[in-house]
Amino acid sequence: MRKKITIVGAGQTGATLAHWLAQRSDVDIVLFDIVEGMPQGKALDLMEAMPIIGSDAKITGTNGWDETADSDIVVITSGLPRKPGMSRDDLLKINAGIVRDVTRNVVAKSPNSILMLLTNPLDAMCHIALQESGFPPERVFGQAGILDTARFSAFIAMELNASVSDVNAYVLGGHGDDMVPLVGSTNVGGIPVSKLIPAERLEAIVDRARKGGGEIVALLKTGSAFYAPSAALAQMIDSVLNDRKRILPCAVFTGQNAGNYGVSGLYLGLPARLGAAGVEEVVSIDLTANEQAALQKSAASVKELVEALKSFDPPMLS
Ligand code: APR
Repeated sequence: MRKKITIVGAGQTGATLAHWLAQRSDVDIVLFDIVEGMPQGKALDLMEAMPIIGSDAKITGTNGWDETADSDIVVITSGLPRKPGMSRDDLLKINAGIVRDVTRNVVAKSPNSILMLLTNPLDAMCHIALQESGFPPERVFGQAGILDTARFSAFIAMELNASVSDVNAYVLGGHGDDMVPLVGSTNVGGIPVSKLIPAERLEAIVDRARKGGGEIVALLKTGSAFYAPSAALAQMIDSVLNDRKRILPCAVFTGQNAGNYGVSGLYLGLPARLGAAGVEEVVSIDLTANEQAALQKSAASVKELVEALKSFDPPMLS
């Protein structure tokens, strides 16, 4: 059966996600944006590519919510990047406002959808979407860990001239400088990475992965990464649409306690089993004492943002 996927925000990431998704014939993709004509133009351009790639995907662009009705999955990429002179709290407030309004509109038209968030600061934006949607947490989650893991894996593969398919790595925690690469359980074709790359080089690779987003911003000068973030979203969507039950690091709600991570009531990057119902399980991985400490630090950073959202006048989170 065909599935309907709405992408809110037809900017760099949203449009590139549509491009990845349009490779499959069984999807109706709606690109939504507030900029008039832009989502329609990108959708038409993509539709004109379909005869070339032989896909029966249908892509429409819109500035109205009616066209998004009855979506199975809604991806929220709408937001502003941080601009010079803007404080972290300014950005937090602006993007929280955008995500709040978008979520209300989405939910009114697609009450049974699964929401996937990309807007930064990601973990905090998931809290807004959870609150505004009233959806159960298994239907509200975010993309970050797949991207962070992919960056770490790509750098290891480059270092060793290895196939990316043989690198098995995991990066957990919040999407930020204190993300938690699980170096101890990272291997290449089954060989622990610590046996293949000297400690000092490995530390430099971890550091590069942590700052991966900033490295691309510095090169692009206008805008941030979009190919890898949108590929990560496409992977999450694939696992849900095909009920593949893949275990992927995603920003998920820890509820009263999810997995063995000792974190409650927060969104955080943890391994999640993604299937037709959304997040079907938060999977426990045994962490070393250092990894556990790093995860707690990362959780504390997310909590700080959540508290900031509660402290605004009027509060963005209750
Ligand atoms: N409703 C719908 N779309 C909106 C809204 C809104 N209220 N506000 C902004 N947008 C749209 C913009 O018009 C723009 O087309 O969101 C799109 C964002 O696209 P880009 O600026 O190209 O940003 P992108 O690189 O795709 O990143 C998306 O991910 O990295 C995070 O938080 C970061 O905002 C960024 C988001």
